[in-house]
Amino acid sequence: MNTPILRMLETYKNENPVPFHMPGHILGRGLINELKIAGQWDITEIPGSDCLHSPVGVIKEAQDLAARCFGADYSIFLVNGSTTGIHIMINSVVRQGGKLIIGRDCHKSVLNALALLKAEPVFVLPEIDNENQIPKGINPQDLEQALVDNPDAQGILITRPNYYGIASSVEDIVKISQKYNVPLLIDEAHGAHFIFHNAFPECGIRAGAELCVQSLHKTMPALTQTAILHGKNNLISREKVEMISSMLQTTSPSYLLMASIDFARDFMERKGYSLYQRLLENINEFNRGIENIPSINRVCTEYKGFETDFSRIVLSLKNTALSGYSAEEILRKDYGIVAEMADQFNLVLIATPFHTENDFKKLLNALGRISEEYGTGKERKNLPLYNSLPERVIPLHQAISSKTREIPINKAAGEICSTSIVPYPPGIPLLNPGERITSEITDYISELLSMGCLIHGINNQKISVII
Ligand SMILES: Cc1ncc(COP(=O)(O)O)c(C=O)c1O
Repeated sequence: MNTPILRMLETYKNENPVPFHMPGHILGRGLINELKIAGQWDITEIPGSDCLHSPVGVIKEAQDLAARCFGADYSIFLVNGSTTGIHIMINSVVRQGGKLIIGRDCHKSVLNALALLKAEPVFVLPEIDNENQIPKGINPQDLEQALVDNPDAQGILITRPNYYGIASSVEDIVKISQKYNVPLLIDEAHGAHFIFHNAFPECGIRAGAELCVQSLHKTMPALTQTAILHGKNNLISREKVEMISSMLQTTSPSYLLMASIDFARDFMERKGYSLYQRLLENINEFNRGIENIPSINRVCTEYKGFETDFSRIVLSLKNTALSGYSAEEILRKDYGIVAEMADQFNLVLIATPFHTENDFKKLLNALGRISEEYGTGKERKNLPLYNSLPERVIPLHQAISSKTREIPINKAAGEICSTSIVPYPPGIPLLNPGERITSEITDYISELLSMGCLIHGINNQKISVII
């Protein structure tokens, strides 16, 4: 094993110190149950433990190992998830009042970061698989057009892969960013595992992104909140990115989280390939099993110009009497199987090397029984995903600081939205702050609500508008 942070923590604990330092639980003495165990490694900056804000010891060593493993020039450990990584990327690239080209399917932290900078998003709509109601991601031609139309844009930010495990092919996007000499930022929150097996999509930083953030906790054996920001010494200086990271990250980063990042990288570097190979075999076996289930199928997300993460299992319920939401509930309540998410027609499950053959068998068995009970053999009509850009009436930052009021959805057409209205999933905003609400959008929202879809930004059939 080569885990500098883990090693340091073990050594410190084995020395049986008498700590008169933070945190106040004193190596777990003041904690209970599993917290007590975790507390033994929950230390702070002391001699030998280094400092995330100017690393020269074990944290530097662990970050350097991560950079080498993921194909970056440098890596920075993040203890507040990819959310902070996205703020760091954007603050490193976009100036106050500037412009960033982003996919409309971006995480909400992207808009938050832009709003705080009083900067404006230039949205590019993702391509959609309308048959299965799945967003695929951004295509390079649309991105290039946005750059031509906005020569003053300071960068591009794309999300790849998305929740459905679909990743825009990164090579063409890298070429475009190089042609226009703008930094490419990649939100690869769902793709930290890509580097460990060649059956996964290409890893963004290795392919030539300037900055790329990955949530280790989403798919790797790592604790919640762990993430890494990877960088290339190209258009944006490392010093600037490190300075911004230091401005945005806590001065008391958790050593448990940093040790977890250190462990996940080391473990996967040593064992990842064979573990993912076994997962691939288990999933192939699962795919063969699902072919025998008449009314539920695994959605094929292999689209031209996009790559697919084989470990993201997207199941279509279109040929059953169930929505994805009710199938999720039945799977959870009747079979004890908890999916990652559901939409109108699909269930999305995350598979990792830590699932056993038996887990896949249980899943197949449950799906078989659901298909028997609710299968119709007939395909239901779907409501196509809404995928257009509303008119922007006032700038984003102005919209979020304006006075607002809540009004019923059916009275909102013509008003300016003050918040993001995002159906989950797929997580593509129907409206963002400062955009015009149309009757087409209010009708669409009402229809989604009647189907039981969760829409962030809608409370009690009301929407917040600018006064
Ligand atoms: C695409 C995407 N980016 C970023 C994030 C934020 O990641 P984190 O939870 O690690 O802060 C998420 C979280 O769900 C996400 O789905």
